[in-house]
Amino acid sequence: MTPDLDESWSIRGVEIPTRLVLAPMAGVSVQAFRRQGRRYGAGLVCSEMVSVAGIQHRNERTLGYLRVAADEHPLAIQIFGSDPPAMAEAARMVEAAGADLVDINFGCPVKKVTKTGAGASLLDDPERAVRIVESVATATPLPVSVKMRRGTENGSRACLEVGPRLVEAGAASLTLHPRSARQMYTGTADHSLTAELVSLVDVPVVASGDVDSRARAQAVLATTGAEAVMVGRAAQGNPWALREIMGEPGEPTREEVVAELLLFMRETVRELGPERATGFLKKFYGWYLGRGRFPKPFKQELVMLPTLEAVETRLLAAAPGAREELERLEADLGPVDEVLLDSLPISLYGGG
Ligand SMILES: Cc1cc2nc3c(=O)[nH]c(=O)nc-3n(C[C@H](O)[C@H](O)[C@H](O)COP(=O)(O)O)c2cc1C
Repeated sequence: MTPDLDESWSIRGVEIPTRLVLAPMAGVSVQAFRRQGRRYGAGLVCSEMVSVAGIQHRNERTLGYLRVAADEHPLAIQIFGSDPPAMAEAARMVEAAGADLVDINFGCPVKKVTKTGAGASLLDDPERAVRIVESVATATPLPVSVKMRRGTENGSRACLEVGPRLVEAGAASLTLHPRSARQMYTGTADHSLTAELVSLVDVPVVASGDVDSRARAQAVLATTGAEAVMVGRAAQGNPWALREIMGEPGEPTREEVVAELLLFMRETVRELGPERATGFLKKFYGWYLGRGRFPKPFKQELVMLPTLEAVETRLLAAAPGAREELERLEADLGPVDEVLLDSLPISLYGGG
């Protein structure tokens, strides 16, 4: 039977309206990205990984990652670190920020993270991984989910050993990206491991890795028994991939592409402030305008422009009809939603 991506499911009482989850991606998963993901069919969205050390030191930029918009629920905020009590404190902050789930990162393969004993390296230290999940699950009533890789080394099956122990420790859901940390993003995700993990635990498992189409999403759900699929790279500058996965195929018009990019730019400026947004947005031009939608030199031209206003003007000149489309999108979104900051101990206004 073909799995129904439209069906709802839940993680310990948190209802998730579709079986499509938007992946956490550092340097990508800002609020604008998550809200867009929700609009295009993702039932659950996730922040990028947030440093527990940064939270402990009340680093303003780190705390900015905890800003939650009213229309992005259900939302997971992902934390990374290696010290169980610090992880517990961070989980309480995540709860105060208004997230629906606390997600723990046991998958990051980047040296800067693994050398501190965090991320994927915790798959080599199951005792500590268990203590982290226990202390986070004790610290907050929110459901705790864990995202992990298959292990650190190629061919590793550590996820199958560690996963069930994390569930025993209190994890209410597991997400598996079945590549090794060593692989980074090379090779392919081996979802036969996802199927094995599903058979070992009695909590929902989310399958992450190489899902970029409806056909692939359905195949992964059918062959693994996972509760949901997670989509990352395919959705970068391309919410239409989410729409296609949800059953509405069709390439966007140039006007639609430009309107979504302009909305994304405006939202990002509101979130990060114009200075940070200018650099942050550069990689998105290629992601939105590539895929044969606009000629290559156009992206180069945008990257060279000195201000975001100049980029906006140039984009509208290339697709004048986008102005109307943008107005429609902004009207549908309504006024800028409340950010739930009241319960956080310091002010996060000012771009974070
Ligand atoms: C730019 C980038 C940043 C990422 N950052 C995170 C992160 O912060 N936390 C995390 O758990 N995974 C992170 N990932 C991994 C993705 O969530 C996902 O598991 C992986 O990209 C495989 O899925 P995909 O093939 O759909 O991209 C990142 C991936 C990319 C490409």
